[in-house]
Amino acid sequence: MDEQLIKTVNKLQDAFATVGVHNPVDLPQIIVIGSQSSGKSSVLENIVGRDFLPRGTGIVTRRPLVLQLINRAAPAGEAASEADGKENPNEWGEFLHVPGKKFFNFDEIRDEIVSDTEKKTGKNLGISPVPINLRIFSPNVLTLTLVDLPGLTKVPVGDQPKDIERQIREMIMTYINKPNAIILAVTAANSDLANSDGLKLAREVDPDGARTIGVLTKVDLMDKGTDVIDILAGRVIPLRLGYVPVVNRGQKDIETKRSISSALDNERSFFECHASYQSKAQYCGTPFLARKLNLLLMHHIKITLPEIKAKIAATLAKYRAELEHLGDPLTDAAGQAANTTLSIITEFCGGFRGALEGQSTDLST
Ligand code: GDP
Ligand code: NA
Ligand code: MG
Repeated sequence: MDEQLIKTVNKLQDAFATVGVHNPVDLPQIIVIGSQSSGKSSVLENIVGRDFLPRGTGIVTRRPLVLQLINRAAPAGEAASEADGKENPNEWGEFLHVPGKKFFNFDEIRDEIVSDTEKKTGKNLGISPVPINLRIFSPNVLTLTLVDLPGLTKVPVGDQPKDIERQIREMIMTYINKPNAIILAVTAANSDLANSDGLKLAREVDPDGARTIGVLTKVDLMDKGTDVIDILAGRVIPLRLGYVPVVNRGQKDIETKRSISSALDNERSFFECHASYQSKAQYCGTPFLARKLNLLLMHHIKITLPEIKAKIAATLAKYRAELEHLGDPLTDAAGQAANTTLSIITEFCGGFRGALEGQSTDLST
């Protein structure tokens, strides 16, 4: 039921995007923010378990990427193989702007993100608020919706506009301002938490830290004898949802093409063997972060259901009125798109009554 709920929310997001409306009912999403090179893309790739994001030094992510992960069990008898770098018939991506095409090759997914980014922003390192919508179906992911945003940067490079910092800030704000966005504030553990761009922005819209989760990257790069225990214990900048420390692949691992599964093994043994973390290793690392996010998302959807329901009912009434104006809705493309949206909303409202009946708001981690 919970998984079904998230799938329906994902369908709704797509349906609205098709008719040119982005997230009209403020559906819950997990928004990834932080400074440039803090490790945002690395965290996302580790959660997905595949290499598929454009990478490099400097500003690589230049448009929002709305990433819907959909858990899809492999057919009976087939192992949910971890096909690092290889194609797997049970694991593929689909872009909203490339209808009908399944991308089984994750290198091709990366190429498509790069080329579609350039289409909207040019090659001069500009940014655009127009999102790229990507769904990944896989037996190896938990159902989640994540949004990757450009990292905060202070100094314009190349032909970037002088006000690039303000532009990126505004783009981030439009996503994290929504009261039901869950903010994933990524900070490198080898930098000062008090100067974290991600946490500073998060605090502006979520002063109580009620919907911000801290991710500490590069824990492996901290000076010997230092650790993040004080941060985890809430003694530095407390967050109600807490912090999760992770170890991603370093630049050298990327150059030597270290696989993600090997990186995840390395991460696990790092926390299990480190004197500071071994007693709490089950609360450290990417797999724990992914489970925590999945629970949070479901919890969040459940507590916002009444509000979403009211908004959908209002939108439904508006579309009905528009359809009446259009006459026979099946005669033109706009009518068809509106009709599709209408049927998904109707289905949603139906499924939603069921969801409310079984509603529980406890978040048992
Ligand atoms: P983004 O700009 O925030 O998306 O950051 P990236 O994910 O592209 O990472 C920037 C650089 O930091 C890359 O060279 C990564 O390999 C490196 N990096 C990210 N996370 C870690 C980590 O946990 N440990 C180490 N050693 N390097 C990391
Ligand atoms: Na960045
Ligand atoms: Mg990035």
